[in-house]
Amino acid sequence: MWYTETSSTNDRAAAMADRGAREGTVVAANAQSAGRGRHGRSWASPPGAGLYVSVVLRPADRTVPLLTIAAGVAVAEGVQAATGLATDVKWPNDVYAHGRKVAGVLAEASSSNANRSIQHVVVGAGINIMPAAYPPEIVNRATSLEVELGRAVDRGLLLVEYLCALASRYEDLQNGRGDAVIGAWRARAASMLGRRVQWDAPGATGDGVALDIDETGALIVRTATGPIRVTAGEVRWV
Ligand code: BTN
Repeated sequence: MWYTETSSTNDRAAAMADRGAREGTVVAANAQSAGRGRHGRSWASPPGAGLYVSVVLRPADRTVPLLTIAAGVAVAEGVQAATGLATDVKWPNDVYAHGRKVAGVLAEASSSNANRSIQHVVVGAGINIMPAAYPPEIVNRATSLEVELGRAVDRGLLLVEYLCALASRYEDLQNGRGDAVIGAWRARAASMLGRRVQWDAPGATGDGVALDIDETGALIVRTATGPIRVTAGEVRWV
């Protein structure tokens, strides 16, 4: 489904999934009036400045923990296949180019009231194509593909390559190949692993050295009191 403008492609996709939309249903828009980011933030989505796309998935329970990691990998792989630009991932699924954020993923699960099993997960990705995609106050922390590349980006190709990469990484997870997804994430996480980080999670903050992710996608951080698993919240380089 393609919209010239919608509130949020994640909201549209979730509503369609609630009404029974098939796995693999794609909702994309040229602009969003209420684009949402992680941690309750908004995601600026002016017309034509970014790729705003959400996919309905109906994963097996064992697939769910690594899904958000796989989606970040898929964005990085899609960007590289479509443009040649190599990007880094930052836990859990932000995508960076030369130290500035170029894309983010918001994965939202819906579970049944009866047995708490996952009904569907909407994986939404926002990729900055032009500088207009981000507000001026984050200009030092954000970038766009066209700024990094110095040329125009074929957004149709970007959409197709991202969807192909997401399908492939999702198939890895559904078929028990989580190690391949973790390996691909690690290969793009060199700018983060081994670095000093601070994290804010609900009810906890701390700092230490980011070591790796485990088989559930949790970030392992070496702290003064030993290694801990960060499973939620936000991580910053310090
Ligand atoms: C982040 O905070 O880094 C995640 C941003 C995710 C933005 C995308 S744009 C398409 C989809 N629809 C939304 O409302 N959000 C996601």
